[in-house]
Amino acid sequence: MTQRKILITSALPYANGPIHLGHMLEHIQTDIWSRFQKARGHQCYFVCADDAHGTPIMLKAQQLGITPEQMIAQTSQEHQADFADFLIGFDNYHSTHSEENRLFASDIYTKLDQGGYIKRKTISQLFDPEKQMFLPDRFVKGDCPKCGALDQNGDSCDSCGATYSPVELKNPRSVVSGATPVLKDSEHYFFDLPAFEQMLKDWTRSGSLQDEMANKLQEWFTEGLQQWDISRDAPYFGFEIPGAPGKFFYVWLDAPIGYLASFKNYCDKTGVNFDQFWQKDSDAEIYHFIGKDIIYFHSLFWPAMLEGAGYRKPTSVYAHGFVTVNGAKMSKSKGTFIKARTYLEHLNPEYLRYYFASKLTSNITDLDLNLEDFAQKVNADLVGKVVNIASRCASFISKKFDGKLTAEIAEPDLLAEFTAAGETIADSFEKREFARAIREIMALADKANQYIDAKAPWVLAKNEATLTEAHLVCSMGINLFRVLMHYLKPVLPAMAKEVELFLNDELSWSTYQTALTNHSINVFKPLMQRVDMTKVEAMVESSKENLQQTAAAPVAKAVVAESKAAAVAPADGAIEPIGETINIDDFAKLDLRVARIINAEHVEGADKLVKLQLDLGNEQRQVFAGIKSAYQPEQLIGRLTVMVANLAPRKMRFGMSEGMVMAAGPGGSDIFLLTPDDGATPGMRVK
Ligand code: MSP
Ligand code: ZN
Repeated sequence: MTQRKILITSALPYANGPIHLGHMLEHIQTDIWSRFQKARGHQCYFVCADDAHGTPIMLKAQQLGITPEQMIAQTSQEHQADFADFLIGFDNYHSTHSEENRLFASDIYTKLDQGGYIKRKTISQLFDPEKQMFLPDRFVKGDCPKCGALDQNGDSCDSCGATYSPVELKNPRSVVSGATPVLKDSEHYFFDLPAFEQMLKDWTRSGSLQDEMANKLQEWFTEGLQQWDISRDAPYFGFEIPGAPGKFFYVWLDAPIGYLASFKNYCDKTGVNFDQFWQKDSDAEIYHFIGKDIIYFHSLFWPAMLEGAGYRKPTSVYAHGFVTVNGAKMSKSKGTFIKARTYLEHLNPEYLRYYFASKLTSNITDLDLNLEDFAQKVNADLVGKVVNIASRCASFISKKFDGKLTAEIAEPDLLAEFTAAGETIADSFEKREFARAIREIMALADKANQYIDAKAPWVLAKNEATLTEAHLVCSMGINLFRVLMHYLKPVLPAMAKEVELFLNDELSWSTYQTALTNHSINVFKPLMQRVDMTKVEAMVESSKENLQQTAAAPVAKAVVAESKAAAVAPADGAIEPIGETINIDDFAKLDLRVARIINAEHVEGADKLVKLQLDLGNEQRQVFAGIKSAYQPEQLIGRLTVMVANLAPRKMRFGMSEGMVMAAGPGGSDIFLLTPDDGATPGMRVK
């Protein structure tokens, strides 16, 4: 087999939020593929970085009262710790806010400019006179210019479906400061994407793109390619454009360049030849693993930028679908928006690596993490099938034969069948058909268990006359197990390491076909615990608690979905950006009721919570509310408020919470419990 040169990347996570299980799907997929390529003896590198630039990062740092540099340094550490604990084996992890990236971004931009691919145009944009900044579309809200619906996004109306420019909004306001934006002219720099149309069409046809991606590209060609605005005015956290003071590269210009920067950083440390990978006539392979939401950037802008600046293009871009949990979009209120760290506090990372692998294909469909199925599958496959083979055979070999395997193989044909499967399994891994690889491996695991069941070595071992046969059967079982673990090594690197210690042997593609005979193994230790459903439930619970801790106004935030915009924290004293819109049916699901607070108490051990007893006319509810920073319990007794009466009850550390009360405000002492007028009576529906 000829040795290939391969560079692999995962998309660069934004530096303003934690790693969650959606990101983990991508990194696990990439890591399995990278470990597989390395195991096959190829020269393969896997690099990534944090995506550290842009308006949301700038505003979040302001809100936290730290510099963007401080914020991204801290986030980078957290991201890297999360990835390391999920056994993601990067060769390098860098940042887009790095010297290498500044150099590459400037260089690529300069070459594009010299090639005539940068156009300058003055455009008129909404400007926040208070914050003294231009407002990205998602930082403007207002009334729809077509139908007049209130409070619509800067680019489209959820009520009538119209799309428009934010300057067309009626009564526009800045979500950063609340001020009324004004129109202001500014010169912007555009990348001439249409100039690359023919090249992109050829690339689409020649490359190994997924069908879904090629179709998407075809649609975009039909719609017509547009000039791409790559500049942003100060204040902006990013790189200043050479020769254009006060103008910065838009975050998405230097983000993919971060792939080059991270690899360059690695090459400088190790002496690997950078140009061999990125120069125009390179015979190396380059693959970007990404989510389906960022295909446009990776399959149009990025190859065009590389082409225009004289670099080679990626061999392929591999997109995956989105993670859903229990069949629905990850949701903070349901506790299914699970951070990588929260998962790690409760569960073994290899459970998730295995589960994702067992469901990953080469296409773009979404992948559901069904938590029941997750526990069931890991327990049945890994614990019940794979580990079971070793645990049934090992102790007998240790006890009766001093840990030594037989000199002969009992069933050479069966073992040959296991090793011969290696090529089809490798083919499945190569094609990113991990689910198929796992099915193939588990079918073999079933065979191994059937063999052991049929021979029943525990019966043979009882009788002196059949002791040798028992030894042969168990040695055979260990050899079958060894082949399977070798196939699973890219998916389960930590368990594979334990198995290598146990077998006293390295699991490698160059040796796995030769059986272990006359070989001493070590004492078997349990390799994997069963998934404990109570730990899964605890993980979901604490994902909810994370929200409780950060929610100043529990209900107002609970109904905000996890859109990218909602993840942007507001600047000091600013109005929080409005979240995803809901339709009238969603709204109708909320059962809002007037409630009277008939008792309020401190909660021992919780400094934010107040325990409320609410009267709803015909029933009473107990609710824990995070409003103690603003109200002493005594002040609350007797007051009317509004509650969400049909929120599913939730078990908290301090007892059941049977609903939520509604409050407004940014938090701290600025929380205002909603209080209906005196005419209202407990139990009344709020509409
Ligand atoms: N910073 C950009 C990428 C720049 S690459 C030059 C970005 N960052 S992100 O943090 O929002 O997303 C990083 C990756 O995680 C993307 O590939 C994205 O598709 C993926 N995912 C984010 N949420 C996801 C799920 N719920 N499920 C699967 N992948 C998801 O976009
Ligand atoms: Zn409208």
